[in-house]
Amino acid sequence: MRLLGIETSCDETAAAIVERMPDGRGRILSNVVRSQLEEHAPYGGVVPELAARSHVSHLDHIVARASADAGVPLDDLDGIAATAGPGLIGGVLVGLTTAKALVAALDKPLVAVNHLEGHALTARLTDGLQFPYLLLLVSGGHSQFVLVRGVGDYERWGSTIDDALGEAFDKVAKLLGLGIPGGPEVERQARLGDPSRFKFPRPLLKEARLDFSFSGLKTAVRLAAEQIAPLTSKDVADICASFQLAVTDIVTTRSAQALARLKLEQRSIEPTLVVAGGVAANQAIGSGLRRITANAGARLVVPPIPLCTDNGAMIAWAGAERLALGDVARLDVSAQARWPLDSADMAVTHGH
Ligand code: KG4
Ligand code: ZN
Repeated sequence: MRLLGIETSCDETAAAIVERMPDGRGRILSNVVRSQLEEHAPYGGVVPELAARSHVSHLDHIVARASADAGVPLDDLDGIAATAGPGLIGGVLVGLTTAKALVAALDKPLVAVNHLEGHALTARLTDGLQFPYLLLLVSGGHSQFVLVRGVGDYERWGSTIDDALGEAFDKVAKLLGLGIPGGPEVERQARLGDPSRFKFPRPLLKEARLDFSFSGLKTAVRLAAEQIAPLTSKDVADICASFQLAVTDIVTTRSAQALARLKLEQRSIEPTLVVAGGVAANQAIGSGLRRITANAGARLVVPPIPLCTDNGAMIAWAGAERLALGDVARLDVSAQARWPLDSADMAVTHGH
């Protein structure tokens, strides 16, 4: 089964073709991603209107390239999947409408994919992972623990109550005058700095719940920076290192707690933690997660970074997993700006 996947929910215009074998394994035949970073850089963040217009300009040739790279004519596809939410609504509309036009012209099934489900199922494409497993999704828009029990069967164990982790990285970068995206810039600076210089707070960490909060930490960083302004390059590096240590501490402590719960609830299986989202690229957080999973006797799976950040392959794959269960969308399916992974309409329609 070969599917085209279209992703346009944020600032990447992406299309890919993925093959799903009858035994459930997958293979990426093409994966084309065009980042809009340079278009948004002058504004210090993603401008939704600009993003939507840029998707309109580029999606057609990105789809054509995905088809050419894979050597699969669109007519040979078994279905077309597109992100139907959550995300910036203008962009989601561009991708979903394009997919609808293609399925109408080619007479193929349409699959409306939840972007978060794309992230959640990627480890099955890259590592052939079996259900259940625990997902830590840390991106620019989301920070959550999700128990992935099956396709459409998700249980959210905790989320951020304010900023997403990637967003916290981006805001810290912005207030320090670093470029976008902020995460990689902060990580680069952190390597040069002293992580013990500033004692930043670990909000919410004393509470037993598996939620995150990063906005107080961001404020503490801002106040520290204001106090010692004007900042030298050493100050910037020390702030980044101290901030990164604080978030690593938060994420690893919470992940250890989540794994302990997983072990209690699923005694018979090897506990597995999957990390997805752009922040998975952060090496300090990655080595912290390797340490706590090793301590817990758990397995850690981090898909290759280009598949952790937004891409079309994850949408094609989630589409294939859904299509394999007979889950085809109607042509009047609508785009959704908000669409939690654990909502009732995530349940696979087939057989329910
Ligand atoms: O998953 P993603 O590509 O897009 C969505 O938000 O869906 O994630 C992008 C986020 C940005 O906030 C970016 O700053 C962050 O991931 N990020 C990082 C790193 N690389 C990307 N954060 C920390 N360290 C990194 N190396
Ligand atoms: Zn994403």
